[in-house]
Amino acid sequence: MDSIKPNRREFLGIVGGLAGATIAARAWAAPTEPVGRVRIGVAGGSFGAGFHWHEDPGCEVYGVSDLLEDRLQNLVNRYGCERTYPSLEAMIDDENIDAIAVFTGAPDHVRHCVAAMEAGKHVISAVPAALTLEGCAELVATKERTGAKYMMAETSYYRWPCITARRLFADGAFGVLKYVEGEYYHPMIGSDSSDLMRMPKREGGGPTWRFGLPPMLYPTHSSGFLVGVSGERLIEVSCIGTLGWDVGFLDNIYGNPFDNSVALFTTTSGNIFRCNVMWNAWHHGERAQWFGDKLSLFMDSWSGQPYALKPRDGGDVLVQPDYWPLVPEAMRYDTGHGASHPFLSHEFITAILEDREPAVNVYEAVAMTAPGIVAQESALRGGEHLPVPQFDPAPA
Ligand SMILES: NC(=O)c1ccc[n+]([C@@H]2O[C@H](COP(=O)([O-])OP(=O)(O)OC[C@H]3O[C@@H](n4cnc5c(N)ncnc54)[C@H](O)[C@@H]3O)[C@@H](O)[C@H]2O)c1
Repeated sequence: MDSIKPNRREFLGIVGGLAGATIAARAWAAPTEPVGRVRIGVAGGSFGAGFHWHEDPGCEVYGVSDLLEDRLQNLVNRYGCERTYPSLEAMIDDENIDAIAVFTGAPDHVRHCVAAMEAGKHVISAVPAALTLEGCAELVATKERTGAKYMMAETSYYRWPCITARRLFADGAFGVLKYVEGEYYHPMIGSDSSDLMRMPKREGGGPTWRFGLPPMLYPTHSSGFLVGVSGERLIEVSCIGTLGWDVGFLDNIYGNPFDNSVALFTTTSGNIFRCNVMWNAWHHGERAQWFGDKLSLFMDSWSGQPYALKPRDGGDVLVQPDYWPLVPEAMRYDTGHGASHPFLSHEFITAILEDREPAVNVYEAVAMTAPGIVAQESALRGGEHLPVPQFDPAPA
């Protein structure tokens, strides 16, 4: 699944030497020189100004866009690109642009990605892919009809312990991966004064799209730790939630009563995935634990829990591998979310240049997104077990 990855022999060297090992610095394969350059247009100048397009030798930031002047300036400053467009809609009309980075608000992702793909552009979309099952289906259909590359920028996928888990899974090191826990905590919706919840005064001060957002409509930071590791699909769910703070909270555009949700999923392999998404519990960040019958892996946490890889046969490994050599040198610094941003940037650009599907392609993206949409429905029905629709192509 990782295209930017150590070769098999190098990786086996890491995990094969588990007995008594600490993970040593390794001679990783350096990224190869790109053939050609992707001209990208970036829309959304808040989170979207934290990526590494301008530092990838295979990419040129051709244009930037935001509806708000200060956000537009963030993009100009970050990417050193003076060519601006009044909107994403105007930017996708420019035939010089090959790809669009859609870092607009979540309710706009499907509309913006579909418009960009219809205009002949490849797209990378911020999470979540969609907020409805219909949106998931529309993304898949548009990608299939246009032949565009679609990638979802799931940061959990390139958190370093998740890269390790993926490689361990590919090498069978877990044995049977019986149970995975994926968690995302972002205490924010409780506060009406939070910048994330309310627009700046000059914009009217009203609630943003984040206000009252059902936790399970933002599942991918958690589900990415399962789908992005084993490739399993989540096929059935029961979910419950805790009730939001007050009447003010209930007055949200989603009609959502929950501030925290916990979902239990069955996977295609008959294993269990527990998924937490919480806006109102005192914990921060994304983390996971992977339990196989031969090995378990514990991600480090805001709580202080350390990273630990524990094989059944002994030889715990308490140091993570160094993945920096997998991205070009200029991109080797952490801009947030577990140093995932340079990896997401490089993977999308490399996939376009190599004319292959990116790692978190449209099928992986909706396999991370749709289960949360059904989980929210389950929670609204008091935890009723519901099947999760699948969007993968039928086997040939
Ligand atoms: N770890 C992660 O993966 C992570 C972290 C933060 C945010 N996100 C996602 O990234 C996206 C952006 O997050 P944010 O916090 O910056 O959201 P935001 O709502 O603060 O910013 C979105 C920006 O898009 C701009 N925009 C909207 N429509 C546009 C259009 N038609 N043309 C040009 N610009 C337009 C808005 O003016 C705004 O500045 C969200 O979907 C969010 O879910 C993901």
